[in-house]
Amino acid sequence: ARITLRQLLDHAAEHSYGVPAFNINNMEQGLAIMEAAQAVDAPVIMQASRGARSYAGDIMLSRMIDALVEMYPSIPICMHQDHGNNEATCLSAIQHGFTSVMMDGSLKEDAKTPADYDHNVAITRRVVDAAHWVGASVEGELGVLGSLESGAGEQEDGHGAEGQLSHDQLLTDPDQAEDFVAATRVDALAIAMGTSHGAYKFSRQPDGDILAMNIIEEIHRRLPNVHLVMHGSSSVPQALQDLFNASGGQMPQTWGVPVEEIVRGIKHGVRKVNIDTDCRLAMTAQFRKVGQGNLSEFDPRKFLKPAMDAMRDLCRERFEQFGTAGHA
Ligand code: G3H
Ligand code: 13P
Ligand code: NA
Ligand code: ZN
Repeated sequence: ARITLRQLLDHAAEHSYGVPAFNINNMEQGLAIMEAAQAVDAPVIMQASRGARSYAGDIMLSRMIDALVEMYPSIPICMHQDHGNNEATCLSAIQHGFTSVMMDGSLKEDAKTPADYDHNVAITRRVVDAAHWVGASVEGELGVLGSLESGAGEQEDGHGAEGQLSHDQLLTDPDQAEDFVAATRVDALAIAMGTSHGAYKFSRQPDGDILAMNIIEEIHRRLPNVHLVMHGSSSVPQALQDLFNASGGQMPQTWGVPVEEIVRGIKHGVRKVNIDTDCRLAMTAQFRKVGQGNLSEFDPRKFLKPAMDAMRDLCRERFEQFGTAGHA
């Protein structure tokens, strides 16, 4: 059945677990997430970016969600708009059956330029007003998330946002968070806590303490009723990088957010954990492996099935690690 983000994260808070929010843009990713959720009895957050919506098409995407809801009647599914850039994106998502939207007013409508605080408050408040009228939830964002804002996410030298923004700029101010939530009434809040989008987060192995636990804890303490969201939460597993590169790939060595750090974040109040890069890498490493291993293969299913299985295994692992398993 469909569930809103508010309903799901209220339950997660009550029972102290986190929920991975996996990005989808096609059928195989949707099936992979649902197979994993069914195997471990976990509730699901699936999210689509603006790019995903234009890739699959709104009608295709929304009918696909209908199909997944029907195929897995015992699994609660929250369908969420990832990084909405304006009111129209958020409201049209709700019209297509999304139960939750992110209004990312930390950036201007171009989804690149940092926006000023007043713009963020005003546009987020407008979306909250409209969404709450029809029972949908809203995630806002406050702060500068490394690579998305700096445009450094997937840059060629393989280095993320570190070094380009100061430590302070990469952290959300708890006073401002309190003000923002009071002014907008968002259900969930994405905060800058030391992560960035994409594969190239850290150019060296992180030595623990990469997340600002004090900031997470402080914001959680002041705002116990707003659910904290951690973007840029891919771990970029070494085994997937190795498989990708052993099969003709040329990804520069990189490090993501260690799963143990995410688990610590969940202990301090993080409830929604956004993961896209790991799912992409799990799938495309299999494309490479199959392609390199059988040069005459041309049936797409021979590529897509192992890719789907690899993504399913990754999703299942995260459901277990974040404590989502058993809570459907
Ligand atoms: O935060 C961005 C997500 O990883 C989605 O990326 O815009 O390429 O679909 P996308
Ligand atoms: P990753 O790039 O770390 O998977 O983060 C995805 C994300 O935050 C989507 O909003
Ligand atoms: Na931001
Ligand atoms: Zn994000």
